[in-house]
Amino acid sequence: MNLNIAVLSGDGIGPEVTSQAVKALKAIASEFNHNFKFTYADVGAIAIDNHGNPLPDATLDLCKSTDAILFGSIGHPKYDNDPSAKVRPEQGLLKLRKELGLFANIRPVKAYETLLEKSPLKRNIIQGTDISIFRELTGGIYFGEKYLSEDGDTASDLCLYTREEIERITHLAFKAAQSRKNKVTLVDKANVLESSRLWRKVVTDVAKEYDDVELDFLFVDNAAMQMILNPKQFDVILTENMFGDIISDEASVIGGSIGLLASASVGEKHAMFEPIHGSFPQATGKGIANPIASILSAAMLLEHFGLYAEAELINNAVEKSLKLDISTPDVNTNHDNITTSKVGEFVEDFINNPNDSNLNFTNIHLGQSTII
Ligand code: IPM
Ligand code: MG
Repeated sequence: MNLNIAVLSGDGIGPEVTSQAVKALKAIASEFNHNFKFTYADVGAIAIDNHGNPLPDATLDLCKSTDAILFGSIGHPKYDNDPSAKVRPEQGLLKLRKELGLFANIRPVKAYETLLEKSPLKRNIIQGTDISIFRELTGGIYFGEKYLSEDGDTASDLCLYTREEIERITHLAFKAAQSRKNKVTLVDKANVLESSRLWRKVVTDVAKEYDDVELDFLFVDNAAMQMILNPKQFDVILTENMFGDIISDEASVIGGSIGLLASASVGEKHAMFEPIHGSFPQATGKGIANPIASILSAAMLLEHFGLYAEAELINNAVEKSLKLDISTPDVNTNHDNITTSKVGEFVEDFINNPNDSNLNFTNIHLGQSTII
């Protein structure tokens, strides 16, 4: 398959983790005879520095003309600590989502068997957890009208949703549930918010078209509690933009590290793949950032194009790396010297040698060296 992929590595640890995902995709291309072409462009703080704009036109045009986008992370402390900044790196990502119509953000959360002890939650609570969060991504409070009074003492952000915006992601969530455990949980705040009551109404209507899928409802405050009390009760979680942002960071604790959570953002025409973590500025350049979320985002990219065997090979490589402790310090309590690029090299090597018995595992190829 020929694929043109835009690579927007962004800020902080973005470039170092994204380059491991590119390594994995290049290995897949050579193993399966695909032709993947990568084109790089700036977004976020780096784009503000280089072009005065967090989403330069050239970047947006590239994204509109490619098959898929691999995104790193954005953000820089100099903007976080300055509430008066007029231009912010995050605007680049939000504009990109909006311009490309990426209305559904899919965030899989699972407890890896080999990492059960790494989570601060108890093994019996998290074991077997497998959730797919469907977060609405182009509406709600993120994109509603913003207001700041002249004197700067009053502000508001409007949370607005239309039936159509709710319907389109709801269909995707129900279809996903049909190939999983046939359950959708709508997370909202319908006891307080009018917009949430619209969500309940529309989702209940759409649910009638899917009699094989069970629908239930949870208020977001309760959902936040249930997520750590009993995460196994969830299959597909469907929710609006901001609740999804918050719940998915919370859910990352189940897997043991936010550095493991990948996501796909899809719309009618475009698709973007990105780790859910941020730019982790303190870790930049230290080689400690976990590239797995980015590598798994690359696997989601392959799945999106129906390349299931290819995606599975990446997923297997990741599982193996976790099993063998070839992982960064956030999930590795035994070795503190496995760097971001070592993890990437292992995954690359696994892809290049899928049938190599050495991978069963007395001697692991990593370049020519042995790592355990
Ligand atoms: C995410 C991030 C973004 C969001 C930020 C960087 C704007 O937290 O993708 O979850 O809030 O959507
Ligand atoms: Mg977030």
